Amino acid sequence: MTNENIVELKNITVTFDGEKILDRINLAIKDKEFVTLLGPSGCGKTTTLRVIAGFVSPTEGDILFDGKAVNHLPPHKRQVNTIFQRYALFPHLNVFENIAFGLRVKKVPEAEIKKQVTDMLKLVNLSGYEKRNIAKLSGGQQQRVAIARAIINRPKVLLLDEPLAALDLKLRKDMQVELKNIQKSLGITFIFVTHDQEEALSMSDTVVVMNEGVIQQIGTPQDIYNEPKNAFVADFIGESNILDGVMKEDFLTSFSGREFTCLDSGFARNERVDIVVRPEDVDIVPEKDAMLLGEVTSVTFLGVHYEIIVDIGGFKWMIQTTDEQKVGDKVGLYIEPDAIHVMKKSKYSGMYGDYSTFSDEIEHLSDLEEDEN
Ligand SMILES: Nc1ncnc2c1ncn2[C@@H]1O[C@H](COP(=O)(O)OP(=O)(O)OP(=O)(O)O)[C@@H](O)[C@H]1O
Ligand SMILES: [Mg+2]
Repeated sequence: MTNENIVELKNITVTFDGEKILDRINLAIKDKEFVTLLGPSGCGKTTTLRVIAGFVSPTEGDILFDGKAVNHLPPHKRQVNTIFQRYALFPHLNVFENIAFGLRVKKVPEAEIKKQVTDMLKLVNLSGYEKRNIAKLSGGQQQRVAIARAIINRPKVLLLDEPLAALDLKLRKDMQVELKNIQKSLGITFIFVTHDQEEALSMSDTVVVMNEGVIQQIGTPQDIYNEPKNAFVADFIGESNILDGVMKEDFLTSFSGREFTCLDSGFARNERVDIVVRPEDVDIVPEKDAMLLGEVTSVTFLGVHYEIIVDIGGFKWMIQTTDEQKVGDKVGLYIEPDAIHVMKKSKYSGMYGDYSTFSDEIEHLSDLEEDEN
């Protein structure tokens, strides 16, 4: 029987100085999959990559490649290559020699090296740059040398630790597309790390959301966005209004002082839950058709739409709308059943999803601006 999982982490725990950095991580990665580890700084993303690469030994648990435990194998005996958070190119070698490095170590014949490096340069759009000094390349070009150097040995798995973090937005977007194309055309499994949720959603087959050394959710980008498991995930991925609610019965919930029809079921009767409503899913309607009434406390124009903050009984909602509203306007809100997502209570309940501090920040910023004028 073939095992379709190329990499598996089973109950991986890592403890540094008595502190749990990774806490029972379970993850199965399929051959040729693009998997992204996403989470805030310090949540354990790099440590997870280092466990897979073999630079960190777990305190507990197993790392499997093709179904076989590799805990005892040193990094160079695993079928992985890593692009580190800092590219770590050799400053004294030119572009050609940086890329050729892995082949020289393996004593590949010169003619073959020449051919393979030339192919790689073409793949990463750097043909003609062979003799360039590494220090004289732009950030994006260095990035592409790092990619070429990491994939020339055709690893089955490539680990990429925030490879695009140092690039400006435009270049970053271009490189996202290029990386994805390289991954598809070479059929390599990518395990990619980022703390940028948009990057994770746009590039990945599977997103793994981490916080405090614990996997919070594993799913497709659509799952993660539409069906967040808890308040942390809902808040970390996009903007969310997160409310304290009660599941009255299947398909009926209550929050903000009234009942709403929803599409969720399977909760206990009157179970306390967290409710997520995305800012783009709230409609502004005339008061007579409204489910909720509120007052606009802040308006920000963002080009495509306005982002407004609406106070409803003391809770501040974020709503995105293309209609212009003014601070102080009374507005009616309407929420379709499929715009309501119900989540189990978790340790993150009550920590996220009220935009009170957001509007305070905006007020503070506009106060500062007024002071300057
Ligand atoms: N060798 C080490 N010894 C002690 N603590 C460590 C060590 N390496 C990492 N840590 C700690 O483990 C936690 C997770 O670190 P890690 O580098 O995995 O985070 P990360 O998710 O990659 O963060 P970032 O987005 O900032 O790169 C941090 O609190 C870090 O300080
Ligand atoms: Mg890191």
